[in-house]
Amino acid sequence: MSSSATACAKVILLGEHAVVYGRPAVALPLPEIRARAEFIPESYPFTLDAPQIGVNARLDELSPNNAIVQVLRIVSSRLGESLPAGRLRVTSDIPVAAGLGSGAAVTTAIVRVLAAVFDRPLTPQQVSAIVFEGERVFHTTPSGIDNTVIGLERPVLFVGGSPPEALPLGGPFDLVVADSGDRCETRVAVESVRQSWWRDTPGMERLFDEVGECVGLAVEALRVGSLGDLGRLMNRNQELLEAIGVSTPLLGRLVAAARDAGALGAKLSGAGMGGSVIALATPGGSPAMAQSMRAGGAAWVRTTTVHP
Ligand code: MEV
Repeated sequence: MSSSATACAKVILLGEHAVVYGRPAVALPLPEIRARAEFIPESYPFTLDAPQIGVNARLDELSPNNAIVQVLRIVSSRLGESLPAGRLRVTSDIPVAAGLGSGAAVTTAIVRVLAAVFDRPLTPQQVSAIVFEGERVFHTTPSGIDNTVIGLERPVLFVGGSPPEALPLGGPFDLVVADSGDRCETRVAVESVRQSWWRDTPGMERLFDEVGECVGLAVEALRVGSLGDLGRLMNRNQELLEAIGVSTPLLGRLVAAARDAGALGAKLSGAGMGGSVIALATPGGSPAMAQSMRAGGAAWVRTTTVHP
């Protein structure tokens, strides 16, 4: 009998990059956009079938440097089981290298399905800890925020090295998520910020401190449901991300398109240098914002409601 599991995409509401340097960040799950892993027991050796990345081969035919192969080795070693005979089919609705947590979501779905195959129930925290090791394959210095929000599938206030805190929300709100269509792997953007940090450590630390202050104020705005304040803090976070060096002209245009259409706040989300923009909508305002962001050049736009 086959087994299957899924995992959600995510957005960073505020605090990306600074979170790698120990500041807090807020992340939200996108439950409607998911990666899937299905295991079909068959008689031949373990086969990986990932049509979206053009892979359909026995594991021993794939390069050991392939990221999914490395992830599978980590998962099998953590679960203390060898990979069984059968086919693992991996598919995803999450655009790759778009700041939406595609790598962590695919790994989470794989860990969940293999845990089910081995009949080894894992807590969300255990899944997240295994996925964190896989994240190191995709980019070398992950903060741990992606595996945490995707593993728990609830809004989180995250500081590296501490257990994630629950994030009380004063009410629901709508976010519009727009993928610019430009691709940048997280590790490339994180490495570029690292170079800037080496060149000007005090300057970058000041920017990260300001991001951390925005996050602190945003947590309070979220708690009392003050969307106007939250939007202003997202706008300030975007200015800081521009100063950090990870925005691009296209991301800037999408942010402007969202604000022109009435967004309370808009910013890039995730690693930047490509990828996605998120915009906070007024009640009922998301269709106009989505249209404006499409006209501004977005490759793909989705609206999501964040519930307390
Ligand atoms: C990636 O979703 C967010 C970054 O801050 C990297 C990380 O936290 O590992 C850019």
